[in-house]
Amino acid sequence: MKRPVEEVGRIFGDVGLGRFHLSLSVPVERGDYLTVVDELHGKVLCQLDDLRRKSDLDLEKAGALQPSEEATLHESMLGEARIVGYRDAQGLVKIPTIPFRPGAHVFRAEEPLIAEVLGLKHHTNSGAYVGLLRNHSLRVELDINQLVQRHVSVLAKTGGGKSYLLGVLIEELLRHKVTCVIIDPHGEYGSLRIPAEANGVHARFGVASQGFGKQIQEYSPDVSLNPTAKPLTFSLRNIDPRDLLVFMGLSNVKSFLAPLKQLIERVAAANPDYAVADLVRAAEAGEGAIAETMAERLEYVEQTKLLGPVGTSLNDLVKKGEATLINLRGVAPDVQELVVARIASTLFENRKKGKIPPLFLVIEEAHNFAPQQGSATCSRILKNIASEGRKFGLGLCAVTQRAARIDKSVLSQCNTQLILQVTNPLDLKAIAQSIEGLTPGMTEMIQSLPVGVALVTGGGYHTPLFCEVRPRATRHGGESVQIVAA
Ligand SMILES: Nc1ncnc2c1ncn2[C@@H]1O[C@H](COP(=O)(O)OP(=O)(O)OP(=O)(O)O)[C@@H](O)[C@H]1O
Ligand SMILES: [Mg+2]
Repeated sequence: MKRPVEEVGRIFGDVGLGRFHLSLSVPVERGDYLTVVDELHGKVLCQLDDLRRKSDLDLEKAGALQPSEEATLHESMLGEARIVGYRDAQGLVKIPTIPFRPGAHVFRAEEPLIAEVLGLKHHTNSGAYVGLLRNHSLRVELDINQLVQRHVSVLAKTGGGKSYLLGVLIEELLRHKVTCVIIDPHGEYGSLRIPAEANGVHARFGVASQGFGKQIQEYSPDVSLNPTAKPLTFSLRNIDPRDLLVFMGLSNVKSFLAPLKQLIERVAAANPDYAVADLVRAAEAGEGAIAETMAERLEYVEQTKLLGPVGTSLNDLVKKGEATLINLRGVAPDVQELVVARIASTLFENRKKGKIPPLFLVIEEAHNFAPQQGSATCSRILKNIASEGRKFGLGLCAVTQRAARIDKSVLSQCNTQLILQVTNPLDLKAIAQSIEGLTPGMTEMIQSLPVGVALVTGGGYHTPLFCEVRPRATRHGGESVQIVAA
């Protein structure tokens, strides 16, 4: 067998089955791939997980140095590597069952071996191209069937690049004609219609700019604020009085539920095709503070135009191979929750009956819609989709800046995680607890990931890998707002 070319160091000390220490003779970065040639199995892929610079400069000698004096010292670079494995004759990834020999040569891994052991494939029919393996020119493609069947989470601190990466993912899904519904609380995803201005980075990643205008439709409960959207309405008759109270912004259920029920019954008896305006008139005709408040709040509901005699039809809302944006910009948080609850339950029920195509439901700011503490109107349906959606071809993608604040049963059901920089210790702990196969070195690396580098776990891969996210083919809609001109 041909030996790999670039030797980087030697194994030393006690050698374990999963990890080993090595002394390094050339600079290698944490996360880089290495190879050891094993007597029984040939080239085995390893990854540098930790690095340490050791020297004979102790505290006493350092303290005795003059301010301008250079230190004379002996130093060595030590590393700790984890064994990723080799492919056996059946193509399965295995880890040697006998530890490597101390003193064995360690080489920089060559790309064909990395691609073979990690299982990186190019231009597959079901692959979503999200970027290149960090420090390599190997494509990272996520298996779309895995994404939709087994759910996805996108986790990073604010400004970490979640929406950018999600934009990349949606571009890929649209290219593969996968139906998507995107809950878009900030109205960021309309820019998927607009091609990006291509630059040198696009060329390096082999990405051409492209707009997806023909495959994007947008709905919003507030079309005056979001004029590119079509109005999203729900059928008034299908609304439960309790939910109507939420639309009215009334949290005092005890005082208002019974009078509202009576009001609806009265109006419906006179006119079965009643509209919100009829409820307003009836409330105005009533007497007392309760009737007055109801009239005022119903008038507000009428202005939102969210409830009509007939709601937006399912056939309009979900179109095969297209992405529907539910733009919630400017909509009150409790109304947002209700909108998400109604849309998620409609999608789930109709997916169960096979009335709509398999689809990918994206929830941005998911910690608000399925919180770990407290509850949102839509928590329960989102938890149901997380646990049962896969049986019915309803994939969930939860995007959040607070891994610690999202419902853990939702987070743990996501089998593909796309993690960008996270620094909050509570969020890191939640991530480490919900993801298998993260090494302590990887958890440390998550804290200092540069913008545009993601740790990918799942998605068809047996081991976590670092991916440089490809540039967007479309314009990114979530640019940070400049407060002071640069
Ligand atoms: N892969 C990338 N390549 C180049 N720029 C990027 C990349 N990812 C993110 N950015 C830039 O970083 C900024 C923040 O990204 P993004 O809007 O995706 O963050 P976010 O995690 O969604 O933040 P928030 O939590 O506030 O929604 C954007 O201005 C974007 O242009
Ligand atoms: Mg965002």
